[in-house]
Amino acid sequence: MCGIIGYIGDKKASDILISGLSHLEYRGYDSSGVALMHSNNIDVYKAQGKLINLIEVLKTKQEICEKSNIGIGHIRWATHGLPTTTNAHPHTCNCKSLTLVHNGIIENYQELKEELIKTGCIFQSQTDTEVAAHLIAYEYGKTNNLLKAMQNAVKKIKGAFAFCAIHKNEPNKIVVAKRNAPLIIGVGENENFVASDIPAIIEYTKKAIYLSDYQVGVVQKNNIEIYDDLGNLIPNKVEYLPFEAVAISKMGYKHFMLKEIHEQSDVVRNVLSGKLISPLENIKLDECKLSQEKIKNITRVQIIACGTSLHAGMVGKYIIEKFAQIPVDVEPSSEYIYRDTIADENTLVIGISQSGETADTITAIKQVKEQNSHIAIITNRTDSTMARLADSLLPISAGIEVSVAATKSYMAQLISLYLLAIYLMENKNIQAHKEEVINLKQELIQLPNKLESLLENTDDIRRIAKKYSSYKDFIFIARGINFPSALEGALKLKEISYINATGYGAGELKHGPIAMLDENMPVLAILNTGIVYDKVLSNCEEARARQAKLIGVTNYIAPKDKDLFDDLIMIPSVSDLMSPAMNIVVLQLLAYYIAEYLGKDVDQPRNLAKSVTVE
Ligand code: AGP
Repeated sequence: MCGIIGYIGDKKASDILISGLSHLEYRGYDSSGVALMHSNNIDVYKAQGKLINLIEVLKTKQEICEKSNIGIGHIRWATHGLPTTTNAHPHTCNCKSLTLVHNGIIENYQELKEELIKTGCIFQSQTDTEVAAHLIAYEYGKTNNLLKAMQNAVKKIKGAFAFCAIHKNEPNKIVVAKRNAPLIIGVGENENFVASDIPAIIEYTKKAIYLSDYQVGVVQKNNIEIYDDLGNLIPNKVEYLPFEAVAISKMGYKHFMLKEIHEQSDVVRNVLSGKLISPLENIKLDECKLSQEKIKNITRVQIIACGTSLHAGMVGKYIIEKFAQIPVDVEPSSEYIYRDTIADENTLVIGISQSGETADTITAIKQVKEQNSHIAIITNRTDSTMARLADSLLPISAGIEVSVAATKSYMAQLISLYLLAIYLMENKNIQAHKEEVINLKQELIQLPNKLESLLENTDDIRRIAKKYSSYKDFIFIARGINFPSALEGALKLKEISYINATGYGAGELKHGPIAMLDENMPVLAILNTGIVYDKVLSNCEEARARQAKLIGVTNYIAPKDKDLFDDLIMIPSVSDLMSPAMNIVVLQLLAYYIAEYLGKDVDQPRNLAKSVTVE
């Protein structure tokens, strides 16, 4: 949530800041700003709305831009105060000497604000961030040293933050600090960078220092110093960044979302690689650090996640309970943290998160870690906060996902959960379902090719998307292992088209939602051959009897039942167990084409952010 970039070197800072912010736009995009240092002056430029508005402002300030080789920038997702130009970062102290950008939330900002007002500070904005600008400036007044001022100030701040500050009396440095919000320092030749996420700097350097909580850093053109929480200078630990610059290009697709949907067959190949060798061999999962004895002693599994990752976890429940025969609870992290949860050393806790930075999930994981449970983290970011909390780190290696709506990361999470479920079963030496598991492994191996054949011809989905794009409401129904697919399909449609879509277990329709049905409420039903096929079909009849338009997503339909549906989307033949991985691609595409047809901002839907770093 929100994005930070900083640059110090010989190049035109504004170009690097804008390029960095454009790669962070997926984290927030309601306003943006930069502060440019030049000959002991700092100029701040901000704009409300998308980054393009800031670019337009800077076009009129080229003289200043040409002179500045040091600067900081920010793209905002509003938490405190409306998304206005005044509330946009950077924020400055009253004498305009110090300027700073911030990610996170300062919890005690009211208290600090009152104290600062007593010292004469005048506040311009409604943000918590401005408090930090005044506080660091106040501390600077006592020390005349930006590093010391930052060190003193962060001791008084409660909450989460990544700060990046410059001071006109110390024009050759950027001072940074962090707690519970990511911040990296990109290491270059005669230049250095600061960023809240890798995409902002990957085209300039592949080397970085990950700042840890409570550390403060001083970044200069040819020098980087990191200080621990006690103020001691510590050695720099430079790491190689895991992404290629090409991963953040659209590669000819109109939107990142479409590109990412089409990458899913390769994503499945990646996740399976080295782990599923053949249907007759056991799954290899070296990342799972549970001994066989520990696995045999697991009495329960708790899956904690949010949004799309939560839906992947719900599919995981079906397969873990079926194959590993361990009871599984799945819960949104935001609910998990506000009750007395029961977990012990025989509980396996699985945290799922694409970003690894979702605040609710981090808090939940930290909470349960105290109960000595084994923590497995399924994430796309091995460099994330959550990854660092893992006892077993299970990377999904989906490659960077830029579109705010998660697609390929969901697919990778699903496949990781299938592998984990079978791995637990094999290590418990459970014989039941052995044949079914061999078939499932065979299907997993075939899945990438089947996804490719599904993605080769999407004309039907496009046609149906156009036909239904004017409806204001949708209901998605399914049962069994595809119930989470209905929830995820509805979430995708809501997120990017702003059409009201709700997912229900098909059996629940008649317990209330059926009251909503008429010719203006299309029902999308997922029905795969398997134990719930006939039941979903009956639920479709119930909907049809209320004049609802019916769209079926299925791998099979008997000729006699075809007329029940207004439209049918056929998927390649697949078992019920494997079908969530096929069905979801149809639903992602349907949401995509509806949003695209309606001219929505597919990759950056309103009010959302790619990583939700506030609780
Ligand atoms: C997915 O399309 C959403 N943008 C959102 O629900 C997301 O899945 C959720 O915020 C969790 O994020 P995470 O996987 O990074 O933890």
